[in-house]
Amino acid sequence: MPRRVLVTAALPYANGSPHLGHLLEYIQTDVHVRARKLAGEDVIFMWAVDTHGTPIELRARREGVAPADLVARMHAEHAEVYRDFGVGSDIFYTTHSDETRRHAEFIYEKMREAGQIETRTTRQLYCPKDQMFLPDRFVKGTCPFCGATDQYGDVCEKCGHTYNPTELKEPRCAICGTPPELRDSEHLFVSLGRFEGFLREWLGSARLQPAVRNYVMRWVDDGLRDWDISRDAPYFGFSIPGYEGKKFFYVWFDAPVGYIGATQKWCDEHPDRASFASYWRADQSQDTEIVHVIGKDIVYFHTLFWPAMLRSAGYTTPSRVHVHGWLTVNGEKMSKTRGTFILARTYLDHLPADYLRYYFAAKLGPEQDDIDLDMADFVARVNSDLASKAANLASRCHKFIVGRLEGKLGAAPADAEPLMAKAREALAQVPALYANFESGKALRLALEICGEFDAYITAQEPWKVIAKDPERARAVCTAGLWASKVIAAIFKPVLPKWAATVEEGLRLEAPLDFVNATAPLPEGQTIGAYVNLAERIDPKVLEAIIEASKDTMGAPPTPEAPSYTVEPLAAEAGIEAFSPVDLRVGKVLAAARVKGSDKLLQLTIDLGPLGQRNIFSGIGPSYAPEQLVGKHVVVFANLKPRKMRFGTSEGMVLAAGAKDDAITVLELDPRSLPGEKIS
Ligand code: MSP
Ligand code: ZN
Repeated sequence: MPRRVLVTAALPYANGSPHLGHLLEYIQTDVHVRARKLAGEDVIFMWAVDTHGTPIELRARREGVAPADLVARMHAEHAEVYRDFGVGSDIFYTTHSDETRRHAEFIYEKMREAGQIETRTTRQLYCPKDQMFLPDRFVKGTCPFCGATDQYGDVCEKCGHTYNPTELKEPRCAICGTPPELRDSEHLFVSLGRFEGFLREWLGSARLQPAVRNYVMRWVDDGLRDWDISRDAPYFGFSIPGYEGKKFFYVWFDAPVGYIGATQKWCDEHPDRASFASYWRADQSQDTEIVHVIGKDIVYFHTLFWPAMLRSAGYTTPSRVHVHGWLTVNGEKMSKTRGTFILARTYLDHLPADYLRYYFAAKLGPEQDDIDLDMADFVARVNSDLASKAANLASRCHKFIVGRLEGKLGAAPADAEPLMAKAREALAQVPALYANFESGKALRLALEICGEFDAYITAQEPWKVIAKDPERARAVCTAGLWASKVIAAIFKPVLPKWAATVEEGLRLEAPLDFVNATAPLPEGQTIGAYVNLAERIDPKVLEAIIEASKDTMGAPPTPEAPSYTVEPLAAEAGIEAFSPVDLRVGKVLAAARVKGSDKLLQLTIDLGPLGQRNIFSGIGPSYAPEQLVGKHVVVFANLKPRKMRFGTSEGMVLAAGAKDDAITVLELDPRSLPGEKIS
């Protein structure tokens, strides 16, 4: 067994909010880590947010904020969501850090010194208006194979062909619609072919799922292509040494280095624990296991580029890459229109994290099968496994002892011994199952124990026996409580709170683990009150989650009213009705259309000393975004912020119009000062 284990989950892009697909990965990584810690292994979970790249750069521009500020805001949002889901990483750092920069530069220098980096000129599409080279996904045009219009620069969604963005017919910049030009630019490439021998060896020795190993080997057999690791300014990322401010590392170059950067930060803060070198310096990392958990879309990066980078710079290469499948909801790809693209926060607004943790863990196995979150099955499963079965066994025994037998434990009876022996055997298998990402099997073992003891209690009828032989009733229920203690230990990596409740209710001396869980309960000890372990889910809650996840912004405009009617006047009101509304002068700094909505514009408004506001306004049909920039407008500044699908709207710009496409924004004299109160 290795002395040290370092586990990572893929670093979520800071560009978007966490959704349930992310949680499928992060919950399974957390369960793996907790289980191994519980089994007594020395494990750290190193993690961060992935901050660089074009989408962040453009979003920051649209919002009129510095990319680093945007990233800091998203980092905080991610951290809160994962905390609330109980994802217990030892660190959740950021790739936009000195540690990551230093290690990325070091790896790059080593590769350059070894002659593994080549410089070549490439021709790429350039938008003269946005003054930038356009990544594949920022070019749209007509597919050169099937003629489908409005396709991205890398792959046609109609016919599935892949191509270069330069092959698109009638290409347009996806940001502004301008036809792009071809321009030359110097790029830096890693010659991956030089690593072929090493990669074959690594693929043979690292722990990979057989299916993963096979298809990665096929990529190697097909010939390794050079990897373009540079991007031209403007790009939010780290400058490449020697090209400061001009060329930047492609986000996928420094993203995995974030694993190392996070470890560096954590080791610096925990000098009492193992040294950085014992994790990441290959020559000092004997007895270290490095495990990456990733989704199947990013296998290429983790099994070819990443080991090559590590190898080149003398870092420890991964011991194991665990690839999981995709999350679908109700049998289909998550969809905004169907309301199945569920943000992690939306789920938490309606249900406790533990139910989802349980459901995912119960369905996960060691292979890459997709996992379906079927809403009806989710309710049925949680209600049955957790509420009707596991909580019920604990509750009936616990309440009986507290209510009828002075709360005192007995000694488990001899006739329960065969069942207890089976439970001990089951528990012995659990650590290996979790270590192998087979949480589904581990949880099934717990439920089998539950079923057997439940049947035993029912057959022994303690509620009848108590009249004649209270000690027998005490013994039988103590056996039931012992079983719920073993079950709680098996649940613990998935449901830490459940385990803590049982520990407290039974007044256990030490926190439960996989070894002490089978110790007999102390005879004669008084236990505490029963605290409920699980509530049943009301299926209506799921409808509410779907409803809250529906994208209504893109809904078609309502048809025009056929005849001319007006609403009657509202009841009379005094002038003081207006006074709670705080109106301020705002200056429009930036305006942009919101993708996926005809109506909405996203505005960045300057309120002077009061700071900047992000405001969504439904004036899209009436204004081109450029028309608004620089205008002085009236802002309802103390309006409660409102969370929308695209972000939070922090106020309202006063505008009026009887028709959607004939709205006029109230405009102020350009001499008025941002932030001033309007009377
Ligand atoms: N930033 C990169 C990873 C860099 S790792 C050095 C990235 N980010 S991501 O936010 O798009 O995805 C993070 C992880 O979540 C990936 O492993 C990805 O496969 C996983 N998932 C994203 N959507 C998912 C589902 N719908 N289902 C399951 N996993 C999904 O990729
Ligand atoms: Zn453009």
